[in-house]
Amino acid sequence: MFLVKGFDADVHMDGGGLWPARLRSSLRVQTNEEVIDMLASHSTQIRRVRFQCLLLARTGVKPAWTSAAGLVLALWSPFLGSGPAQAEVSQPSFVEVEPILRAHCQACHQPGEVAPMSLRTFEEVRPWARAIRRVVASGDMPPWFADPTVGEFRNDARLSDDEIETVIAWVEAGAPQGAPLPSGGAGAETPEWHIGSPDLVVEMPEPFLVPAQGSVEYVYLRMPTNLGEDRWIYALEVQPGARSVVHHIDLLVCPRGCEADADLAALEPGVATQLAGSPITEKPRPRSESSVDGDDLEFLASFLPGGRPLQLPPGAARRLAAGSELILNIHYTPNGAAVADQSRVGFVFGPKPERRVLSFFLDNWTLWIPAGQADYELTSSAWLAEDVELLGLTPHMHSRGKAATVVVQTPSEAPEPVLSVPRYDFNWQITYLFEEPKHLPAGTRIDTILSWDNSADNPHNPDPTRDVPWGRQTSDEMASVFVTLSVPPDTEPSEVFARR
Ligand code: HEC
Repeated sequence: MFLVKGFDADVHMDGGGLWPARLRSSLRVQTNEEVIDMLASHSTQIRRVRFQCLLLARTGVKPAWTSAAGLVLALWSPFLGSGPAQAEVSQPSFVEVEPILRAHCQACHQPGEVAPMSLRTFEEVRPWARAIRRVVASGDMPPWFADPTVGEFRNDARLSDDEIETVIAWVEAGAPQGAPLPSGGAGAETPEWHIGSPDLVVEMPEPFLVPAQGSVEYVYLRMPTNLGEDRWIYALEVQPGARSVVHHIDLLVCPRGCEADADLAALEPGVATQLAGSPITEKPRPRSESSVDGDDLEFLASFLPGGRPLQLPPGAARRLAAGSELILNIHYTPNGAAVADQSRVGFVFGPKPERRVLSFFLDNWTLWIPAGQADYELTSSAWLAEDVELLGLTPHMHSRGKAATVVVQTPSEAPEPVLSVPRYDFNWQITYLFEEPKHLPAGTRIDTILSWDNSADNPHNPDPTRDVPWGRQTSDEMASVFVTLSVPPDTEPSEVFARR
């Protein structure tokens, strides 16, 4: 239900909860003019929505109001279908709802996964019907934080409007079971590897024992690949051993081995080492406002709860150089029972590709958030020295992180926002992959605009009385955006960004 106020009458747009879920973050509609602007600027989103507009106060509507309503109906009428949307709403049963849950929810909502309850069978789902309706209507589930009016993403986790309508109609009809499911709802068997059979598997040599309680510092593992020649990675899967306690895993690679880096070299190969900070980022840093990192230590991939292996575009691959060493960075969250985890990484190799995929960390080490400050903002810029195709972006802050925007400006065009995350959530480190790779010529400037809330009003703030510096520990903050892009295959990482 969406109430547009500021008129002589209220307009009541009932899109089954769609409208607020999709656009609430970006729209704060108050006046007629804003409604008109909003409709004009969001017409691409609106095209996919079947809406009905109920004019609650049809009589006594003043002319200005009628014109706004007229515009609303004129814009939407092509999508309204032949009759009012309500007449089309059938009463779905679980048979119609189960495929939606299978596609969008069960990756996390199944035994042994991160979510607190399994949502596979009718018996499992039925008690949660009202909560499901709520989180689906609000857009809180599946987790996805990009402003839908900026950019299109191929891993967009949101349900389609029809799917949302189906789930809501099912709950409103009393969440009936209908015919039993052919499969019994047990879900498809998950394959051992989603990437197919790997050419190389690198596994932790010893299991790491995660205690039942308390907190575990970040675990680092240095693992040699023992590769005698360069290989091209077409698919890569980071696989936790004990999913219930693995919060996330980042996979990095020292392309020339980690021996050159004193801190990483101190890690004994194959031995899981708990570190309060990070050997990777606690080296003395220049207090630079626009740092670009990714030459000596490359970010390869990560595992996130419910995440699927990163799919590279056709003809694109990452290079794994001969003699590379992997660095696994694992964040464990004890879960009530002691568990042993032995995580591993699988690689599928192929021939030299047309495009080489690289990831960089853009960051800003001047970050310093005064105690109590509710809206601290930091803008950082980096300049491309080569033509690239931009594939994806991953904003990364810690628990005080509030919002993130990335803007690109090519030498010839106006600045263009390519990602906006109005409500950043540290618990969900999402990589936003563009539907179409974005061509960015040399000379393009990439701006990241990040903000933090260090006030007591931020419920996630561990300590609002503290000035917060840049640091890898979650009690400090980072101002990172991981940028994933592709370049011609012989390009070296050091050539991609202009170093200033
Ligand atoms: C990426 C993993 C993931 C996906 C995908 C996901 N969930 Fe969740 N869900 C969670 C986690 C973790 C929690 C518990 C913590 C939280 O609420 O964030 C949760 C909580 C919930 C809750 C309880 C919320 C509350 O406030 O009581 C409901 C209901 C729910 N999910 C439904 C769904 C539905 C329906 C879908 C699919 C449309 C879905 N989830 C997709 C991970 C996921």
